[in-house]
Amino acid sequence: MVNIAVLGLGTVGSGVVELLKLNEDAISKRLGDEVCVKKVLVKNLEKKRSELVEGKVTDNFNEIVEDEDIMIVVELMGGEEPALTYIKQALISGKHVVTANKEIISKHGKELFNLAEEHDVNLLFEASVAGGIPIIRPMKNCLAANKIEKIMGILNGTTNYILTQMTDENKSFDVALDEAKIEGYAESDPTDDIKGFDAARKIAILSSIAFNTRITSDKVYTEGIDKLDLLDIEYAKELGYLIKLVAMAKKHEDKVEVSVVPILLNKEHPLCGVNGPFNAIVLEGNAVGRVMFYGQGAGKMPTASAVVADIMAAVRSDNGNKLYCTCYNELDVMDPGLSRTQFYIRLRVKDRPGVLSKISGAMAENEISLSKVFQKHTMNGTAEIVMVTYEVPFKNLQEALEEIQAYKQIEEIASVIRVEEES
Ligand code: NAP
Ligand code: HSE
Repeated sequence: MVNIAVLGLGTVGSGVVELLKLNEDAISKRLGDEVCVKKVLVKNLEKKRSELVEGKVTDNFNEIVEDEDIMIVVELMGGEEPALTYIKQALISGKHVVTANKEIISKHGKELFNLAEEHDVNLLFEASVAGGIPIIRPMKNCLAANKIEKIMGILNGTTNYILTQMTDENKSFDVALDEAKIEGYAESDPTDDIKGFDAARKIAILSSIAFNTRITSDKVYTEGIDKLDLLDIEYAKELGYLIKLVAMAKKHEDKVEVSVVPILLNKEHPLCGVNGPFNAIVLEGNAVGRVMFYGQGAGKMPTASAVVADIMAAVRSDNGNKLYCTCYNELDVMDPGLSRTQFYIRLRVKDRPGVLSKISGAMAENEISLSKVFQKHTMNGTAEIVMVTYEVPFKNLQEALEEIQAYKQIEEIASVIRVEEES
């Protein structure tokens, strides 16, 4: 019998308890051992809980960490504290830890992996990136013979749901966000989803594994989707693109480029087929070529699927075969200003002679070549101009836009969005 404790009995915690019961037979046959939830930690003892945890609920972590029969602590509370302290105490006490907490892994991974190694226990975190999609272990095991060159992912279900609703149903951002909250995809504070911080934590974890160097989430250049307008989605479609919030990491010699930004993706790109709350990751390895992982990146049972598999891996790892930190490089993160890409720009300008030539002059001065220019609607003397550049360093575009912003004929630089031409 393997005794475990589950910290947190919310969406994921209750899914884990239910899944351990639902697939009890298969799990114990595959493991050659039974998994028993001995204790469950919650915040509010007054809340009604499932009969599956009757007599096991506590609000005192000491009852768990001091219990020598508990072999695995499964942290599903979320947030930084007290979860971080509990994880550390569990590792120090010689217990394996399984967690779905991307905030903690992306910020404190190094310290925690060192602690796990020091105490000869495992720290597993498959569910912290893309919920039910297997990605951490496939990267560390099945793709271990490769040098990963590039990762592109849709790593946040809430924003992908919102963008799909805006694209397919013409719904406004606010309406689509309210729906995402009702469906339970959004974090308790959806700012982390819509501003891109949730995806930044996930790409920090994936790029650390891919490039064997510690990348923390504060190093990820991040833009959210909260400024996107339905007009951009419409114009993008006319130009042959779909807008997605893409987490991207790329290796350049001794630097890593890492970002979460909305991108106009070529409609033929595999990530354009990823809709609603689904997540996907496209990896490029120097031996395997391109591989794609797709599935549910959030939700009770999909996330529980990854957590329970980690519990089983922790049981197996008790006889050795632990997956410790693989960050043996110390690569710098590339200055986002040096990142080269094409850009889509939407401007609102006074509809007067010479305005376009001023704009193209500022672009030319900064060595920016334009691939497409359209004048869209004109109303009450204001014209809307849409441009697509050729590939250019971001800092050149920023300098050109600063000059353009200063012209009195410019009413607004409404949108600046990256473009990925490759399919
Ligand atoms: P949740 O529904 O908000 O549940 C949190 C649980 O933790 C609740 O049972 C709460 O207790 C308990 N808790 C919170 N603070 C506590 C404290 N100080 N002491 C003891 N218990 C405490 O969260 P969730 O959606 O399941 O997410 C859990 C973790 O999984 C997070 O790290 C999240 O990012 C990650 N994750 C979630 C999903 C998803 O689809 N939801 C997917 C992938 C990863 P009470 O019940 O008493 O309030
Ligand atoms: N809020 C997250 C998302 C859920 O929308 O993808 C799990 O990470």
